[in-house]
Amino acid sequence: MPVRHRLGRWAALGAARASRIKRPKPARADSRGPMEEDWGGAMSDLRMNSVFGAVLASVLGVLVVGTLADSFFAPDFPEKAGYLPEVAATPGAGAGAAAPQQEGPPDFGRLYADPAQYADLVARGQRATAVCGSCHTFDAGGANRIGPNLNNVFGRAAASHGGFTYSEAMRGNGATWSYDTLDAFLRSPSQTVRGTSMAFAGVRNTDERVAVIAYLRSLAPNPPALPAPLPEPAPAATEEAAPTDAAATPTPG
Ligand code: HEC
Repeated sequence: MPVRHRLGRWAALGAARASRIKRPKPARADSRGPMEEDWGGAMSDLRMNSVFGAVLASVLGVLVVGTLADSFFAPDFPEKAGYLPEVAATPGAGAGAAAPQQEGPPDFGRLYADPAQYADLVARGQRATAVCGSCHTFDAGGANRIGPNLNNVFGRAAASHGGFTYSEAMRGNGATWSYDTLDAFLRSPSQTVRGTSMAFAGVRNTDERVAVIAYLRSLAPNPPALPAPLPEPAPAATEEAAPTDAAATPTPG
């Protein structure tokens, strides 16, 4: 059907809608055929329009929903890896281990001092070392796997377990595995011993790491003695409170 014809029909329709009276009557009184054909053609055009309109509306709707969803649900990735079990940092009764651990190594001398608390840490550390089990054994005389047997690792020199081929980085490390060296290594193996072949992200949670180190220590026949507890941090917060409050008091005017 030629375009001109269609346009003409649209024009005729518009005119008819504007003023029905002016529309010339069909030549024959009973000739409703052309009228029906006109309306039928218009309807099919209208139907096409509504189909296009529906498609357009759906596309727009999807876009709008997507944009809204993005703004409502901004992705909020956690900074800490979620696969490490989160264990509350509740120390055992009365050991005074609640001192905040900011920077620096944990206060092993304090955390391991109380026997009951130490036993708890060892048990928890044993559970936590399940993630090491694909690469390490922990029993005395246990086999080397991807990593060396760790039964007596606490207190021994790095890269010194017989029958295991260490990386060059580990052989050149020169550390003795003890409280702070293990803490640093297990926190981030690749950053502490650059070039290590231990493909393990590390135990980022400090409580978890303290527990793992307690377990390693419990396996060693002659672990190094506990370090002295770190000095208590000065209660600086209460002293600073007064002057800060005074300075913050608004002066009238
Ligand atoms: C994907 C395997 C893998 C996992 C998981 C793994 N390790 Fe290792 N580990 C190794 C390898 C390999 C080495 C030897 C590293 C080297 O030579 O650089 C190693 C070395 C070590 C060492 C030094 C041993 C020595 O004799 O000097 C310690 C300590 C250690 N791992 C502890 C752990 C602990 C604790 C865990 C779990 C929290 C763990 N590793 C998880 C593979 C692994």
